[in-house]
This record gives sequence, structure tokens and C-alpha cells, in this order.
Amino acid sequence: MKTNYPFYSNRKLLVLLLLFLFVIQILAFVFYENINNKSYNAMSKQLVLQHIVFLVQRLRNSNVKQQNHIINSLNNAAMQESITFIPVWATQITQQRLWQVHKVLVAQSQKLQLSLQLLNKKWLNLNVNLMPGHSSLMIFILCLEVGFFILMLFIVWLLYHYSIPLQTLREAAEEIGFNIHSAPLQSTGPEVARETYNAFNAMQNKIQLLLKERSLMLAAIAHDLKTPLTRMQLRTDFIADKEQYQNNMADIDSMNILVEQVVAYAEEESEVADVTRVDVNALVESLCHDYQDQQQAVNLNLRQEHVLMQANSVSLKRLCSNLIENAIKYAGSVDITLDADVDNIILIFDDAGPGLSSDKIKYITQAFYRVDKARNQNISGSGLGLAIVAKIVQTYRGYLTIKNRTPTGLQVKITLPKI
Ligand SMILES: Nc1ncnc2c1ncn2[C@@H]1O[C@H](COP(=O)(O)OP(=O)(O)OP(=O)(O)O)[C@@H](O)[C@H]1O
Ligand SMILES: [Mg+2]
Repeated sequence: MKTNYPFYSNRKLLVLLLLFLFVIQILAFVFYENINNKSYNAMSKQLVLQHIVFLVQRLRNSNVKQQNHIINSLNNAAMQESITFIPVWATQITQQRLWQVHKVLVAQSQKLQLSLQLLNKKWLNLNVNLMPGHSSLMIFILCLEVGFFILMLFIVWLLYHYSIPLQTLREAAEEIGFNIHSAPLQSTGPEVARETYNAFNAMQNKIQLLLKERSLMLAAIAHDLKTPLTRMQLRTDFIADKEQYQNNMADIDSMNILVEQVVAYAEEESEVADVTRVDVNALVESLCHDYQDQQQAVNLNLRQEHVLMQANSVSLKRLCSNLIENAIKYAGSVDITLDADVDNIILIFDDAGPGLSSDKIKYITQAFYRVDKARNQNISGSGLGLAIVAKIVQTYRGYLTIKNRTPTGLQVKITLPKI
């Protein structure tokens, strides 16, 4: 089962969220600036109108020198005025009709450029900016928004940075699921990560040790059992009663098989590590011929020529023979299909036997598990065959699926990567 650490699986969502936040901030800023501009515009138009009325009155009661003085003192960046003999701007209002000034002003949104005729026939030229400059408040808000966004980016980066050790741990845990002898984690990164890596490595060491002890113990038991078994076989040879002799020999054979299976189960990992280029067609074909020579109903369907893969021929053979033997034992015959695609080889073992009830299928790859012991009373077996198959498939990082066939029978499908 492959599970992703939430941060990684939600990475797209996070980027979307950041983008959303960014757009919202931009929109809020633009909206606020718009409102600000509108209210400023309305206010400034009022002030401009008051200013023009005030100016015209002042100019009316002043001589030329005073007029120039007034104009010069009122000029600033937002409002420039001048008095000329001919109008400067295209919009012109004669006879000091101030209500027309109001009309022109209302129609403008950015700038007011207007020439207004005074009583002395001269023209008062007005150039007024109705839009606000970049107020310090807006600049402050903009800085705040940028700062907030940078903070968000930093928090996301921190999250990402501190989730790297978790990602490494996840990968390492997945790796030891396939291969317990995988390289230990390097003790780098923040202190918390280093401590976790060390604890993880210690756990891996302990599991390796336990597995080694278990293999040794099983090998020792198997070895010690072989001597009394040989002795029993020798003693059985002296039994005169034929039936007794056959019963004893059958028991001894099944005990020998059990011992071999136990050793095979214990040794599986070290064998799979030793791989070469194997011609799977040739391997499966020769195995099938062996069974056919013993009058077993084993049919082979090769869908591809020369299927090659990196494998250990012993473990691959064991995998196939365990499944063939099961089918022969529980169904009487087997149809094997060998196929391949670019990356994988596919082995399918079909039989037309009784199959298995669906609630049992999930347990049958457990070691020493035998379905319906009563049903299998007369069928010898230790319940290790499928456990060994599952272990081999797992070590090759392949997939094993077991399902019932219609109308009856069992199908075991194995997919193994070629490399
Ligand atoms: N093709 C099949 N059809 C029906 N039942 C099966 C088939 N293959 C396996 N089983 C059931 O699954 C159980 C587990 O199979 P497994 O191969 O692990 O053990 P076994 O055949 O009993 O013993 P061993 O293979 O160790 O000699 C069997 O006991 C049997 O009940
Ligand atoms: Mg079996």
C-alpha cells in the first residue's frame, strides 16, 4: 500500500491556494484604490470649484500686478494657472459663466483643462489634476500586502523544508518493505530528522538481526530433523508389512518436503539478491515438460518469444512450481499463460478446481495457512507454498493477484518487472 505524505499529495492544492491568495490581495488592493480615487475625485472637484469661484472674485478686484502675484502664489504641482490674452485650452467659457465650469468639471475624471474669460477679456487658464498622486497610505497598504504574501511564501517553504525528512522516511520504509537489506539512512538535516533517521536505522538493524536469527533457527531445525528422518527411513526399509511400509514412507516424504519448504522460506531473500539474465520462456517451458513427463496435466501458452528478465532462476522456478503444484493438487490440471509488455512479464496460472471462498483468499499467502483443513485432509502440504510465492513476488517488487474464475476455479496472476 502506497500512501503519500499529505503535504506532497496536496502540493497542487497549496500552489492553488497561494495563487488564490495572491489574486485576492491584488483585487482587494485595486478595489480599495478605486474607491479611494473615486472619493478623492468627488472631494477634489468640490474644492476645485470653490477655488475657481474664489480666484475669479479675487482677480476681478485686482490690478495686473496683483493678479500675477495671486496666480504665482497659487500655482502648485496639482493646479497650474496662467492669465493670457488668448485662451490656452480648447474648452473655453466666456463671460464668467461659473455654472458652466461646474458642468465641465462634472464631466471630467482625470484632468480639468479650461480657459475662462475674465471681465477684462483676458483668459484665465486652468490645468488641474483631479486624480490623487500615490498617497503614502496606499504605498503603506501595498507594502503590507507584499509583506504578507512573502510571509505566506516563507511559511510554505518552511512546511516544505521540514516535510523532506518525512518524505525520506516514507521512501525508506517502503524500501525496507521490499528489501530489508537496503542501505541505511544518512544522518543529515535538522537534529530532529537525524535522531529519527538513527532510530529508523536501529529498527532496520534489529529487524535484519531477527530475520537472520529466524533463518538460522529454521535452518538448524531443518538440519537436525534430517538426521532422525534418515534414520527413520532406514528403519522403515526393514518393515515387512507392505501397507505399514508405504504409510511410513509417505509420512517421511511429507516431512522431508516440509523441511525443504521451511528452509526455502527462510533462505528466500538471499537467493533473490543473486540475479542474472533469465530466459523466462525457456525456464517455464522446461519446468512444464518436467511435469508433463510425470503425466501431469500442465498446459503452457507462450504469448511472446524470448521473454528475458533479471531474476534468480532458482526462485523463479520455485515460484512457478509452487503454483503448478497447487493447481495439480487442488484442481488436477493447470493452464499457464506467459505474456510480457515493455516493462513486465505476466504469468497467469488458471485451474478449474473448487477455487476459494472470497473471505479466505486474503489469508492464503500467510505462512502455514491452509484453507479448510478438513477438505485438505488427504492432501499433504505445510501451508508455505503461497507464502513463498508472495515473498518472491514482493522481493522482485511485483504484484500478485488471486481470484476465483467463473464458473469455477482459481486464477493466480503474477506481474514481475523485467529489471
Ligand atoms: N489452486 C488452488 N485451488 C484451491 N485452493 C487452493 C489452490 N491453491 C492453494 N489453495 C488453498 O490455499 C492454501 C494455501 O496454499 P499453499 O500453497 O500456501 O499451502 P499448501 O498447498 O497447503 O502447502 P504447501 O504448498 O506448503 O505444500 C491451501 O491449503 C489450499 O487450501
Ligand atoms: Mg501449495
